[in-house]
Amino acid sequence: MDYLTEINYQTPEFAEYFDELPLWSARFGIALLERVPLRPGQTILDAGAGSGFLSIELAQRCGETSRVIAVDPWRAAMQRLERKLAHAGLRNVQPIIQDLESAEIPANSVDLIVSNLGLNNFEAPAAALQACFRAARPGARLFLTTNLVGHMDEFYRAYETVLTELGYVDRLPYLAAHVQHRATVESVHHLLREAGFTTVATHTSIFRERYANGSALLRHAFIRVGFMPAWKAIVPAELVQPVFAALEQRLNLEADRQGELSLTIPMACIEAQKPEG
Ligand SMILES: C[S@@+](CC[C@H](N)C(=O)[O-])C[C@H]1O[C@@H](n2cnc3c(N)ncnc32)[C@H](O)[C@@H]1O
Repeated sequence: MDYLTEINYQTPEFAEYFDELPLWSARFGIALLERVPLRPGQTILDAGAGSGFLSIELAQRCGETSRVIAVDPWRAAMQRLERKLAHAGLRNVQPIIQDLESAEIPANSVDLIVSNLGLNNFEAPAAALQACFRAARPGARLFLTTNLVGHMDEFYRAYETVLTELGYVDRLPYLAAHVQHRATVESVHHLLREAGFTTVATHTSIFRERYANGSALLRHAFIRVGFMPAWKAIVPAELVQPVFAALEQRLNLEADRQGELSLTIPMACIEAQKPEG
């Protein structure tokens, strides 16, 4: 690439891609970027690449002699990745619009696998990790990030209170199952081990997602797309409206007391390795 050719920030394309990823993904992606080996000449697999911010970042940070294979079945996001690649003139990212399990990646060919909020959230994480293991060369490293059980604890406690107060205690086990479906460090270690990887390091931390109150939280576009469908599914369709009205009120009351609505997000960045030889 000719780096002397300037990118003009006033072009419509630059404006379109300028703030190109959800802040939610960024928190986790930064944890990966702080830890992955940045070396020239690597073949990198981005598992569940989404619109590819991590693929693009690694392709640029590792340089033109490295190659990133970005795999995701989400066509619209991958097409956006293709537009971003064309805009930046990047030729060392190969998008594959497919499930990881069926993507044709040569065995023992990948040096580094990254997955930001991906692998362990896939529908069939064990099969996806097996595909990663096949693609990885012996000694290859895998870095994944995930949010953990305990995520948005303040929201779920308010949900539990509302269900109890309204007398819908039969829904509490559904709420508990939803809360518990999230990863733990142990469950991710187990998945990795089952696929043949050895866990090398686990970094956990907690950050906070802050909102003015429940009304703001529930109307946030990313909450509505990323979380609301599963939250609504905890109660039958006819109860969604009254339960969420009560929940909004409850969260607003909490926010009045605390000065804001602050949600706990525990996260992990886990590093594993395919054993040598
Ligand atoms: C929470 S998003 C994360 C996207 C991106 N890594 C980020 O951090 O913004 C999870 C991604 O995994 C993708 N995904 C789900 N199942 C997959 C599979 N079997 N193989 C590859 N990608 C998959 C989804 O399409 C989605 O883009």
